[in-house]
Amino acid sequence: MGSSFYQLEPQGQCSGSVQVPGDKSISHRAVMLASLAEGVCLIDGFLPSTDCEATLAAFKSMGVQMEALSPTKIRIHGVGLKGLKSPQGELNMGNSGTAMRLMSGILAGQEFSSTLVGDESLTARPMKRIQIPLQDMGANLALSNQGTPPLRVQPSNGLHSIDYQLPVASAQVKSCVLLAGLYAQGRTCVEENVRSRDHTERMLQAFSYPIEIEDNRVCLSGGKQLTAINIDVPGDISSAAFFIVGALLSKTTELVIKNVGVNPTRDGVIEILRRMGANIEISNGKTFGAEPVADLVVKSSELKGIEIPQHLIAKSIDEFPILFIAAACAQGTTRLNGAQELRVKESDRIHNMVIGLQKLGIDVDEKPDGLIIRGGKIKGGEVDSGGDHRIAMAFAMASLVSAEMMIVRNTDNVVTSFPGFVDSASQLGLRFK
Ligand code: S3P
Repeated sequence: MGSSFYQLEPQGQCSGSVQVPGDKSISHRAVMLASLAEGVCLIDGFLPSTDCEATLAAFKSMGVQMEALSPTKIRIHGVGLKGLKSPQGELNMGNSGTAMRLMSGILAGQEFSSTLVGDESLTARPMKRIQIPLQDMGANLALSNQGTPPLRVQPSNGLHSIDYQLPVASAQVKSCVLLAGLYAQGRTCVEENVRSRDHTERMLQAFSYPIEIEDNRVCLSGGKQLTAINIDVPGDISSAAFFIVGALLSKTTELVIKNVGVNPTRDGVIEILRRMGANIEISNGKTFGAEPVADLVVKSSELKGIEIPQHLIAKSIDEFPILFIAAACAQGTTRLNGAQELRVKESDRIHNMVIGLQKLGIDVDEKPDGLIIRGGKIKGGEVDSGGDHRIAMAFAMASLVSAEMMIVRNTDNVVTSFPGFVDSASQLGLRFK
């Protein structure tokens, strides 16, 4: 268990103007595609979090040259699809499911062996979901008996294309298959029932890789090339979400969050909060390469409980910890079902949030695939994040409306996605001690 914790005085503020760090999903993909491209890429706005640094370190150890011009600006000298070298030792993906699952697709196509390992949380996460399609493509991939890491990849006799119907909405699995598809003979297609985040597809197109997208079906043929580009990474809407809810909950607040990625496969949090009565304006829209970006203007609002629509779950999958805090402070009941994926994230986010909310005095029922939250008053006290970065930040925001002091235990992993969280949140008015 991590040793660091937050102690917060109640009734702080969340107002002013802020920029959140770069998008985690896009930062991972930028490093991966830049490393495999022909030519030199400059990535600006890179997220210098431990998750994305694990991806950087993995490519460095496979011979890719990188220059850190600053923590957020990195020049990567691409080696081409066939230019990676056998790594020295295991590749440690830390806490990052995205790094492990996407890298597996790339490593499945290499002519050398590799082993991917992770921390305690990642070592418990399900990897059969990528082993199954990769094996169908001819890859040689071994897992533990529980279907978890370490993940060992041996060279195969060459990958071949598949036409894969995703059994769960997962951008990580979709991206893994597409990245393996870059190395496969023939045309690889992935189809999903519900559209998951599409950063991989957008970035492949930006690197001039031919790819066909029709509704929820994506296809590409192996053996073409990625052409280097410069990438500006938008602010992470998943990090912005904590401050959005903070501003909604604190009294007489206006908060501006600049340059946030508002990709339509990621903006479910805005739609869910608006349905709950939130005043959130999207202004100053522009694009950073292939990704839409905007400023968000948030005003404090009276929230009401809602039934969360099924079609918004994939679009807001990482935002549920903070959405549950919003629901706990809303008038009336919020219901979520069909969200069993939350149980296999960095922690079991349904269970850990239920335990924490109950400790704070909120009436919550845990369901196998969701929960029911009856809005009430947050009394404050001590909660544990279960080592989950998003749960730690969500409970920190609850201090804005708590009656008493809040202690959030186990906050070490906040640096996996939001380095500088305490500084940014303090500047906006949260009262860390
Ligand atoms: C991610 C996809 C999502 C999300 C994760 C990042 C990505 O996971 O929860 O934080 O960058 O592709 P799933 O693909 O498992 O839904």
